[in-house]
Amino acid sequence: MRAVDVIIKKRGGEPLTDAEISFFIEGFNRGEIPDYQAAAFAMAVFFKGMEPAETVSLTQAIVRSGHQLDLRDIAPVVADKHSTGGVGDKTTMVVAPLVAATGLPVGKMSGRGLGYFGGTVDKLETIPGFRAALSEEEFRQALAKVGLVVAGQSQDLAPADGKLYALRDVTGTVESLPLIASSIMSKKIAAGTNCIVLDVKYGKGAFMKNLEDATALAHAMVEIGHGVGRKVRAVLSSMEQPLGLAVGNSLEVKEAVETLQGRGPGDLVELALILGSQLLEMSGRSLNLTDARRKLEETLKSGAAFEKFKAFIAQQGGDISYLDDLSRFPLAAHREEFRSNRAGYIKSMDAETIGIAAYTLGAGRKVKTDAIDPAVGLILRKKVGDKVEVGDSLLEIHAQSQSQADSIKESLWQAYTFSDTPVQAPPLVDTII
Ligand code: URA
Repeated sequence: MRAVDVIIKKRGGEPLTDAEISFFIEGFNRGEIPDYQAAAFAMAVFFKGMEPAETVSLTQAIVRSGHQLDLRDIAPVVADKHSTGGVGDKTTMVVAPLVAATGLPVGKMSGRGLGYFGGTVDKLETIPGFRAALSEEEFRQALAKVGLVVAGQSQDLAPADGKLYALRDVTGTVESLPLIASSIMSKKIAAGTNCIVLDVKYGKGAFMKNLEDATALAHAMVEIGHGVGRKVRAVLSSMEQPLGLAVGNSLEVKEAVETLQGRGPGDLVELALILGSQLLEMSGRSLNLTDARRKLEETLKSGAAFEKFKAFIAQQGGDISYLDDLSRFPLAAHREEFRSNRAGYIKSMDAETIGIAAYTLGAGRKVKTDAIDPAVGLILRKKVGDKVEVGDSLLEIHAQSQSQADSIKESLWQAYTFSDTPVQAPPLVDTII
C-alpha cells in the first residue's frame, strides 16, 4: 500500500477501508508518512468527507497510536463530560463534582484553552497549588480515592491526534466534521471512560456557529462512541449568549463554587442538571431522568457536591482555603461598571464579542505558550430578556488598568442589541441525541 494511493482514493470521494486508514495513521504516527502527505489527506477528507464507518476506523486508528487507559479495575463505569467549548463555560466544575457526589466516578482529561475559550484546566489552575499534570498512576489513584479527577490531556494518549491537529491548524482543515469528531472522540476513548456526555454548543460564541453543523457533529460523535461500544449522548446547548454571569478564569471558578453552594445562576444550574441527569441515567444509577434530576438536586442542596469539589481540589494539591473564602482570589486592579446608554430589553448579546473582549484583557491565549491572567474578565449584570434603564450596569469589567478597560468598550457596545418590547431568552438546550 502507498500513502499517495490512499490520498488519491479519498480525493476521488471513495470510502477508505479500515486497513487503508490504519495504514495511513500508523505510518504518519511513526514518522514514515511525511507531514505533507498527511496534510493532503486532511484536505481530501475536508472536501470529500467520510462515511460513519470510516470515521469510526479513523478514531480507532488514532486511539491505537498511543497508550490506552483501562479503568475497569477501579470502577465498572467511569463517567466523563466533554464540552466543545463556549464563553463562560464552567459547567465541568459543577457537573463533575455533582455527579461524583452521587457515587458515580468521574475521570476527565481536559485541554487547555486556545483563543477566547479558557480551558477547564486553565480555570482550575487559578486555585493555588492545583496540579493538572498527573501521571497515569496519579490519575488512577485520584479516581480510586476521591471518585473525581480532572487532569490535563496526556501526551501519551492518542498522540496521532496532536500531530494531525497541528497540521490541520496551519492548513485550513480544522473545520472538517469527521476530523473534529474523530479528534475529540479518540481522546475520550483512549482515556478509558465508558459513559460520556457531550455538551455540543452552537451559536455565535461556539466552535459550531449554527445548530445544523452542531447537530451533525453531535451525531457523528455519538455514532463513533456507539461504534466502539461506549455509552454516549450529546446535548445541544445554546452559546448565543455566555453561560452564567462570569467570563474569565478565576471569576469562573468563583461562580462554579457559588453554584455548588446553591447560589448559582439559573442557566448554569439547569445545564449542569441536564448533563448530570444524562450521565446518571446512562450509567444505570438512576432509573429515569426524573429520578436522576431529583437525586442531583438533593446532592446539590445537601452540600455534598461542594464537599466533593473540595476533596478533588485537595487531592490535586489545591489550596481549599480559597474555596471556603472566595475573597482570597486576587482581584484585577481596575474594576468598573459598564453602563447602558439606553433603556429597553436586551434582545441579543453576542457571546463571541464578549469572549474576545475578555481575551483582550488577558483571559485567553493566542499561542499555547502564552500566559493567561487569572484575575481579568467580565461579570455580566444582565442577560438576554432583562429590562434595563439608562445608567444600569450591563456588566462589570475586571481589568488591570483603566486604559485596558477602555480598550474593550467600543467592541462591548457592538455586542448588545436592544428592543423596546419584551424579549424571550433563547432556549438553553435544543435537543439531546
Ligand atoms: N477540539 C478537538 O479536540 N479537536 C478538534 O479537531 C476540534 C476541537
